[in-house]
Amino acid sequence: MAIELKTPRDLEAMRVVGRMAAETLSLVGERLRADMTTDDIDAIVRADTLARGATCSTLGYHGFTRSCCTSINEVICHGIPGPRVVATGDIINVDITSFYGGFHGDTSATFLVGPVSAEARHITEVARHCLALGIAQVREDARIGDIGAAIQQYAEAQGCSVVRDIVGHGIGRKFHTEPDVPHVGRKGHGVRLKAGMVFTIEPMVNLGGHQYRELDDGWTIVTKDGSLSAQFEHTLVVTKEGCEILTPRSRPLVNSEVFGVDVALGAG
Ligand code: MF3
Ligand code: CO
Ligand code: CO
Repeated sequence: MAIELKTPRDLEAMRVVGRMAAETLSLVGERLRADMTTDDIDAIVRADTLARGATCSTLGYHGFTRSCCTSINEVICHGIPGPRVVATGDIINVDITSFYGGFHGDTSATFLVGPVSAEARHITEVARHCLALGIAQVREDARIGDIGAAIQQYAEAQGCSVVRDIVGHGIGRKFHTEPDVPHVGRKGHGVRLKAGMVFTIEPMVNLGGHQYRELDDGWTIVTKDGSLSAQFEHTLVVTKEGCEILTPRSRPLVNSEVFGVDVALGAG
């Protein structure tokens, strides 16, 4: 099936829900403290999302029982909020998807809990930069492989690895739709981008190898070698000149910026 091109009206709605998800993510950064549980984070996400009149896309999604994903340290993605306490020195990705006006908006960031190791800062900054580099490839007539190629080349040059198979995705009235957006790839290969396509870019970058395994809970994805993993995600629409980020932040993230500057695109 052809990849859907959003209409100007669809995009208006996607800007609204995208900003809602981004605001909720910013709030999580501001509230994040050591000694909170990941269930506490989930409660913040749920309450803020509902206060905006939106709902949480992950709640009930293929049986997922929580309002966001919380992925700590060696957890790559899809961590289920629960009783686990967030500790000083941890890095934690919080992934928020809101649904409002018939559309989904999906965004995530990795936060640093208090002083963290140099390795933890490194993997977080590499992942943040990978998202920016992927976004910079997007414009009409570019290929989807250009995105993964740029991400993979940078991550590997930094001594890190990029998770395969778990990919960015088309998004709109459905949470996950075409196209797949791999975070590794070859320049000039894959789907040709058209203005109006909407998808996420959400590179997962590991300090060690790219291999992963799934825990017995059927959701949590962890690095096989136990190394740290970080991730950032935006939802965007392809334009003739480049792209527009649909999940831009109104202010820099708190508890994520190492140098006090949010270098991820869409910060302002
Ligand atoms: N938000 C995730 C993504 O970026 C998907 C989470 S699905 C869940 O695609 F069921 F694990 F919550
Ligand atoms: Co996503
Ligand atoms: Co997400």
